[in-house]
Amino acid sequence: MKSYSIKELLEKQPVGEPVEVNGWVKTFRSNRFIALNDGSTIHNLQCVVDFENFDEALLKQISTGAALKISGTLVESQGKGQSVEIQSTDVFVHGTADPETYPIQPKKHSLEFLREKAHLRVRTNTFSAVMRVRSALSFAIHSYFQQNGFYYMHAPIITGSDAEGAGEMFRVTTLDDKNPPVDEQGKVDYSEDFFGKETNLTVSGQLEAETYAMALGKVYTFGPTFRAENSNTSRHLAEFWMIEPEVAFNDLDANMDLAEDFIKWIIQYVLDNCGDDLEFLEKRLLDEEKSKPQAERSEMSLTEKLKFVVENNFKRVSYTEAIDILRNSKPNKKKKFQYPINDWGADLQSEHERFLVEKHFKCPVILFDYPANIKAFYMRLNEDGKTVRAMDVLFPGIGEIVGGSQREERLDVLQDKIKALNIDEKELWWYLDLRRFGTATHSGFGLGFERMVQFATGMGNIRDVIPYPRTPQNAEF
Ligand code: 4AD
Ligand code: MG
Repeated sequence: MKSYSIKELLEKQPVGEPVEVNGWVKTFRSNRFIALNDGSTIHNLQCVVDFENFDEALLKQISTGAALKISGTLVESQGKGQSVEIQSTDVFVHGTADPETYPIQPKKHSLEFLREKAHLRVRTNTFSAVMRVRSALSFAIHSYFQQNGFYYMHAPIITGSDAEGAGEMFRVTTLDDKNPPVDEQGKVDYSEDFFGKETNLTVSGQLEAETYAMALGKVYTFGPTFRAENSNTSRHLAEFWMIEPEVAFNDLDANMDLAEDFIKWIIQYVLDNCGDDLEFLEKRLLDEEKSKPQAERSEMSLTEKLKFVVENNFKRVSYTEAIDILRNSKPNKKKKFQYPINDWGADLQSEHERFLVEKHFKCPVILFDYPANIKAFYMRLNEDGKTVRAMDVLFPGIGEIVGGSQREERLDVLQDKIKALNIDEKELWWYLDLRRFGTATHSGFGLGFERMVQFATGMGNIRDVIPYPRTPQNAEF
């Protein structure tokens, strides 16, 4: 007898043949109909069981969450809701799930409740759909770069440098926490630590990726990054995955072209390959929106939003233009922004980014040429001496989804910047070497993977698009 995944079975429909499937019970009704799911697809397989032919004891073992192997004949379904079903001849119970204690029952659970059951939540329709889309998106990202001549580079996870200069790092140490070695000033002596220096989990693989771009030409990283920022928002994680392409000889315009082309391609991939899951997530989102006030409801459905991004050009606007728009905007004048925009130089908050995208331009926006003093040290200084060749891609519902720049390739300008910011030049000797030996224009950006999964699935909270979210005060599982 051939064993099938439910996805395969529903696609091939070998009606009349003996088949075998394994999965978990979603629902069991009328002591006769088992809806079985094995995670291969959002769809369940209906298995019809004549329990008169089975042992009473077996019947008692079947409830939501139990793992079963069911064999029988695939037949055209008599009932509504499915085209085929199994007329079961044999049921084997791999494992039961006591209905008194199994938390995932066939009813609506809140996302908050399910976060506390993160080890089981992927058995729900919503989370299995999200995680399949997440998997497809990862594959799409590798496919895009591999098809376009990029090499995948594994940046180190333990590092001595703070790429973003924001000081939001998790320390990695093996020193005795009760009795660490101290130097003459009474400070912890990291020269005695495992690596002989202070080390942290990386906040970005960019600096190392730059060194590889300056040899392999076009590279990308795709790995975990860590930020100890105390942001309890629906868009921040302490551990998240980032994709960072870096390209030698690309200027900022080429960098924007790459970001736009890349984002559109991976979203199109999801549209082409995740139809069933998107259909489910779209309905879920519609239901969720119904509970919101009319004014806050989205005018577009999930797939409409995805298509909209693929089909329209991203609007490219300088920071200076954006500040003018924001300063003169209704919410600014009516003091509706939590952070009012008065002067050039202000850092943009997510409320401003979302105003530009959702209310003003009504499409994804790429902002560029930001004030130097609100951006990282490595961005290329413009002729005006006060702005840098930075770019952020802003998305509806999300705000910043990509941050990137053209890099400062001039040794003296970079050294001045490092001094002005009090960064230890010695820590970056290797990064400065790139500017000493065969320096050239180069650019790159970082895409926050979970923010992209949020956009593609319509999930409002970033904690619901990664298997085990790490946030302040939370590292369960
Ligand atoms: O803008 P960021 O900080 O840029 C960098 O790290 C650069 N080194 C990238 C580069 O040029 N190679 O982060 C890039 C993106 C953000 O736009 C956002 O989507 C995501 O990473 N991100 C986060 N996602 C989830 N949780 C957080 N705490 C995040 N911080 C940044
Ligand atoms: Mg940023």
